[in-house]
Amino acid sequence: MALLIKTDIDRGNAWTEALNAHYPELKTFTWPYKGDPAKIDYALVWQPPKGELKRYPNLKAIFSVGAGIDHLASDPELPTGIPVVRMVEPGLTAGMSQYVTLAVLNHHRFMIDYAAQRREKVWEEIPQIAADARQVGMLGLGVLGRDALDKLKAFDFKLAGWSRSPKSITGVTCFHGSGGLDAFLAETDILVCLLPLTPETEGILNSETFAKLPAGASVVNVGRGAHLVEDDLIAALDSGQLSGATLDVFRQEPLPEKHPFWKHPRIFMTPHIASMTIPSSAVRAVVANIQRLESGEALQHVVDMKRGY
Ligand code: NAP
Ligand code: GLV
Repeated sequence: MALLIKTDIDRGNAWTEALNAHYPELKTFTWPYKGDPAKIDYALVWQPPKGELKRYPNLKAIFSVGAGIDHLASDPELPTGIPVVRMVEPGLTAGMSQYVTLAVLNHHRFMIDYAAQRREKVWEEIPQIAADARQVGMLGLGVLGRDALDKLKAFDFKLAGWSRSPKSITGVTCFHGSGGLDAFLAETDILVCLLPLTPETEGILNSETFAKLPAGASVVNVGRGAHLVEDDLIAALDSGQLSGATLDVFRQEPLPEKHPFWKHPRIFMTPHIASMTIPSSAVRAVVANIQRLESGEALQHVVDMKRGY
């Protein structure tokens, strides 16, 4: 049994070491692979070159190193009929909940304003708003969105969420479908995007969406860069309709040097690190799934490629 690793999230040989330690029977190879493609059973990948995966005729499953699989869905030559498995594992979920909590509190406690005051050497208190007077609205009630909301319960925010299908979550006002979006946005002060990137969700963070939020709301995008219409964000921040944004993902990564986001005073940015897959933790999910398949059981977290997530 052999697995090919192609990931630039990995540093050094962390995946190879983790897989060798947890599953010594599995031979591991790192990309670029010079051997016989027919000998590869599994691929563990992040952003493989388009057309690469079709070279391996005997693949039994493709594992995404990340939760999102848009990097695979966008390959027009992705082999069909082979299960694509997304990353679901406690370390990735914990990392995202940490980041979302940090970003929400940053906006709630006016840290973008205090950073601006610091630059100008201004010492001024901004009246504090109670957490229970603010609504955090989560676009996407999947594995990551739900856990982040769960962690935010500790702070007493009003919590809401929006998904494709109806949901019932204790302590969270749930909305769904295009019919539920406006009511969800109308009460949301801090909007977090944890949607997968699909044709339906691309560009969802646009001027129309921002106009439906209460004036002065903030936006946190940890989904994908293409969820956001970048010019619309700048216009909404400059008009005051939005008071700030935290962005971890961008249409073009790395963000080009001349991009206006770099210098915008009301944008807090990070280089796509909201949650990074840590091999020593995530290896368990990959190994357990391969063992499941090898013993004739069904794989977990297989993506519905028609739906796109
Ligand atoms: P997930 O479990 O598949 O959940 C996706 C959620 O989005 C579900 O609640 C789904 O609704 C909802 N959804 C999908 N399409 C929709 C639509 N058209 N309208 C309304 N709701 C829709 O995904 P996840 O594991 O939580 O991950 C979410 C995304 O986070 C990933 O795809 C990835 O892009 C991003 N991510 C980013 C980072 C980072 O470092 N920035 C790290 C990890 C993941 P239903 O429940 O009704 O199906
Ligand atoms: C990272 O962006 C992921 O999808 O896990």
